[in-house]
Amino acid sequence: MKNNRIHIAKHIWVNLCRFLLAGLFIFSGFVKAVDPLGTQYKIEDYLSAFGMTDWFPAFLPLLFSVILSTLEFSVGVLLFFGVRKRASTTLAFLMMLVMTPLTLYLAVTNPVSDCGCFGDAWVLTNWQTFWKNVVLLVAAASVFAGRARIIRFVTAQTEWLVSLYTVLYILVFSSYCIRNLPVIDFRPYKIGKSITEGMSIPPGAKPSVFETRFILEKNGERKEFTLENYPDSTWTFIDSRSILKEKGYEPAIHDFSMQELASGNDITDEVLQDSGYTFLLVAHRIEEADDSNIDLINELYDYSKEYGYKFYCLTSSEEKQIDVWRDQTGAEYPFCLMDNITLKTMIRSNPGVMLIKNGVILNKWSDNNLPDEYELTGPLDTLELGKQKVENDKRTMQLIFGWYILPLLLVLGLDILIVRRSERKRKNRNKNLINPLTNNKMRKNIVAGNWKMNKTLQEGIALAKELNEALAAEKQNCDVVICTPFIHLASVTPIVDAAKIGVGAENCADKESGAYTGEVSASMVASTGAQYVILGHSERRAYYGETPAILKDKVQLALANGLTPIFCIGEVLEEREANKQNEVVYAQLAGSLFDLSAEDFSKIVLAYEPVWAIGTGKTATAEQAQEIHAYIRSTIVEKYGKEVADNTSILYGGSCKPSNAKELFANPDVDGGLIGGAALSVADFKGIIDAFNA
Ligand code: 13P
Repeated sequence: MKNNRIHIAKHIWVNLCRFLLAGLFIFSGFVKAVDPLGTQYKIEDYLSAFGMTDWFPAFLPLLFSVILSTLEFSVGVLLFFGVRKRASTTLAFLMMLVMTPLTLYLAVTNPVSDCGCFGDAWVLTNWQTFWKNVVLLVAAASVFAGRARIIRFVTAQTEWLVSLYTVLYILVFSSYCIRNLPVIDFRPYKIGKSITEGMSIPPGAKPSVFETRFILEKNGERKEFTLENYPDSTWTFIDSRSILKEKGYEPAIHDFSMQELASGNDITDEVLQDSGYTFLLVAHRIEEADDSNIDLINELYDYSKEYGYKFYCLTSSEEKQIDVWRDQTGAEYPFCLMDNITLKTMIRSNPGVMLIKNGVILNKWSDNNLPDEYELTGPLDTLELGKQKVENDKRTMQLIFGWYILPLLLVLGLDILIVRRSERKRKNRNKNLINPLTNNKMRKNIVAGNWKMNKTLQEGIALAKELNEALAAEKQNCDVVICTPFIHLASVTPIVDAAKIGVGAENCADKESGAYTGEVSASMVASTGAQYVILGHSERRAYYGETPAILKDKVQLALANGLTPIFCIGEVLEEREANKQNEVVYAQLAGSLFDLSAEDFSKIVLAYEPVWAIGTGKTATAEQAQEIHAYIRSTIVEKYGKEVADNTSILYGGSCKPSNAKELFANPDVDGGLIGGAALSVADFKGIIDAFNA
């Protein structure tokens, strides 16, 4: 009862952790995919903080940003649906193992103030990020260790479709956002926002104090200046940056300041208060800007000149670079200098265009979809372009729901309707075929103990006596067998009541007799009075190299000596996770037993023991056990016919206890158990035997 409760609690815990991780990974991957350039900038910030900018080619941060969002989103979705458990839980665990110490380092050294985990959608401090990661690491370790408990929502037949579609979707989605600007804008420069309002500070709030530092060069020497000590014109401007001197109320927009290159004047207020249209060509680094659509940009400038609209190119590049751009593109528009980060925040395209009026952002275009002559057919106030663009939420919804959630729901619907239904039908068919009379089956129920390498001779004798006494008083509804180490056999066999308890060995040689030092033959086992022998136990397969061919010889020798083989089969965890359990047990059966005649096969007892459940405390669920037992029986039907299959006892083994025996044995195709640890205590073993009495 208590064990059962622990079992349920573990299931709940693992699945709670799995949904927590799934939710956060999906969210974090999605917001990064919405804004891949934002993540790229963040990665560049980190590289520059660590002085590693030159270590990697320029394209790498963006590539890494796309890979990261794809990985996070896909792992989240796989965890959510409970598919590809091994891959998804390992990846989640590995990611958290790397990220947690890294974010601790970031929190301590604070090279970049916001981690960027959730893009601009949810800004966390570095310490918040670290503690969030500690929680996620615990969750990731729990799902990794308890992945077998994750409940899957999609069948194995359709899981590939879900995984493949998810990866493809998020890759296409992030490429779309790179090409066409983020479909959801989390930044203060969202279409419809007023830059002036974004900059305003509520009455009474203390503003932050910033200082602009200018980097200038003269005779190869670079120096930093402030406005107070700005030098004469013999110095060349290189770069500028804002330094926070005193933190106060921080408005959403705090470093929007346009300095006209030609005049050196700050024209911010003039531009923001202008009631006419202003085009801002934003190219945070003009030397890195894409010039493939330069004709459209020049046309846009000509258009704005024609209708008397203002047009500025905003950049943070050096004058030298601006001149190169002018030469290369024939740019005639005026340039203004602005903070690099502000420019990158304004528009995720280099270059990109923003249209403002009265300080309000009316529209934004990426370099790839700039308005052309077919759209710019008259003055802006007569065109759709000149009105404030209504943020196209329908398009966003379409991209998310129409292209991802709906197709996925369709797959899930098909999965439930077709795949699951046909699986259920197949199972029912098998059940009817194999088990017409569940309560009146011809085969025996058996509870067999496997002592393994435990108990000295004296202890073994004592245990056997104790069991004998415990079973003496009442009648059991199943056969009871104890399989002991070789040296116990001769002593234990005469002690137990043969009418109640059978005795067996745990192994026998694959040779009849002869110079095989240390081996014990089937005939020797039989000579002790033992009637059974366990063969093919996973521990012997794994540790002593017993192959199907060796086991085949052992089975034949056991049968030839009148012993009943308790033949063990079962898959390891990786095989179960890859959904290969049926293939594995089939190969084990076919490799050692299916050459037997029907008559000989009828003498075999089978024990299905999933290796992941042996001695681990993890039991196969009653449903899992029934499913594979039914499958095993169906293979016998195919090979030897229904009668032989109906007569074959198939025991379950692997962390079987008094608390779960009843539920396991209640399955129509589970005919008892092969018990390890619990067979070493008479109380537990009897508890399991009694599962047939109730
Ligand atoms: P446990 O019952 O200890 O898991 O062992 C099962 C087994 O291997 C029986 O052969």
